[in-house]
Amino acid sequence: MRILILGGDGFCGWPTSLHLSQRDHDVLIVDNFARRNADVELEASSLTPIAPLGVRRTAWRELTGREIGFERLNVAEGYHELVDLIRDWRPDAVVHFAEQRAAPYSMKSSWHKRYTVDNNVNATHNLLAAIVEAESDAHVVHLGTMGVYGYGPAPGLKIPEGYLGVKIEADDGTDIEQEILFPANPGSVYHMTKTLDQLLFAYYNKNDEIRVTDLHQGIVWGTQTEDTRLDERLINRFDYDGDYGTVLNRFLMQSAIGYPLTVHGSGRQTRAFIHIQDSVRCIQLAVENPPAKGERVRIFNQMTETHRLIDLAELVSRLTGAEIDFVENPRNEAAENDLYVENRQLLDLGLVPVTLEDGLLNEVAEIAHTYAYRCDPEKIPCRSYWRHDLHERVAAGAAVGPSGNGGTPEAGDVLADETYRVSR
Ligand SMILES: NC(=O)c1ccc[n+]([C@@H]2O[C@H](COP(=O)([O-])OP(=O)(O)OC[C@H]3O[C@@H](n4cnc5c(N)ncnc54)[C@H](O)[C@@H]3O)[C@@H](O)[C@H]2O)c1
Repeated sequence: MRILILGGDGFCGWPTSLHLSQRDHDVLIVDNFARRNADVELEASSLTPIAPLGVRRTAWRELTGREIGFERLNVAEGYHELVDLIRDWRPDAVVHFAEQRAAPYSMKSSWHKRYTVDNNVNATHNLLAAIVEAESDAHVVHLGTMGVYGYGPAPGLKIPEGYLGVKIEADDGTDIEQEILFPANPGSVYHMTKTLDQLLFAYYNKNDEIRVTDLHQGIVWGTQTEDTRLDERLINRFDYDGDYGTVLNRFLMQSAIGYPLTVHGSGRQTRAFIHIQDSVRCIQLAVENPPAKGERVRIFNQMTETHRLIDLAELVSRLTGAEIDFVENPRNEAAENDLYVENRQLLDLGLVPVTLEDGLLNEVAEIAHTYAYRCDPEKIPCRSYWRHDLHERVAAGAAVGPSGNGGTPEAGDVLADETYRVSR
């Protein structure tokens, strides 16, 4: 197949490009290096030494004889270039990763909120409009998030794969049965853009019969896949900073440098996880098994297990002896939640999940140890506050006690220093 990978230089996009290329698909990456530029803005960088994209592609060609193409393009702004690319290159599938993907980054300031909305919503809409204008039949495979469902308390509810069956009582007392998109409940501006993406897909699928698979992905952990491991020039990125680092990778890196594990709030928040190797495999399964023309948007929950954050911290602490530090929760989220998730469709397509017990934790810890010398501990704390009042109080240097968001310390606790750490 001919596969266009929007955002193919990123954390998920790069190993996906290699995996699809390895399977003899013809791969063309589109990227505008927004993620590398965000590193410049944040004065942070990947823990692993990622090579420039040109070096990555050359290394892949030398190792495998396979070519991966590249077009530098801002998908959110370069609409006409995107139409021309789709018309000329004629992809069978477009995998869409090209969005600003960090919730903390999206909440840093009004600029970051507006950038995230402009970039993400326009990128998705441009892609859909361009497919129509280019008269393409490409199947869109989009990376959404489990966060579109929200993380409210919902004891006993198993989160379905995108759609919820409802009964609505009609005027005559009879029940009308429908399947609707699961009610969106975003927790950040980033998550909100993903819920808006869902409506764009539903509309273009209904109106223009664009075939779409939306993958509601959990938090990705790990860094290497079997392809990125082949050569150091292919190494994948490893984000550990307070904006882009995801929780389990942050814990492993923190333990590697002797920094206490930063648990936000109570740690009783439950989240869904997937290893990066499974993520690329799920995308391959989605691409190689497209929906039929006229089929409604297909939604898969792309996750393999759920964990409470405190349980992950305790697991890493047991493995490494690291201390656990409860810090003020910068987010506005429930202190605890249950999370039961349906994920049968990808398992039915053949996914065999890699779980935390499979020894890969040690592999990630080893990467963290190897590159620990590249870590800037200053970049570890999350300084992005979901709520303006908390931001203001911290900026004013005030003590911050329980804020009513639940995931906060005991009464009387005070922020210890400008890293907003609260010791227990
Ligand atoms: N990493 C995770 O844990 C995770 C979890 C759930 C969902 N996702 C989703 O997966 C996708 C990829 O995530 P990631 O972790 O690889 O992020 P990333 O930031 O590492 O990669 C995104 C890539 O898209 C590029 N990009 C962004 N805007 C663009 C634009 N307008 N035009 C062209 N290129 C653009 C960036 O430069 C980057 O290379 C995102 O949509 C994200 O929401 C990621």
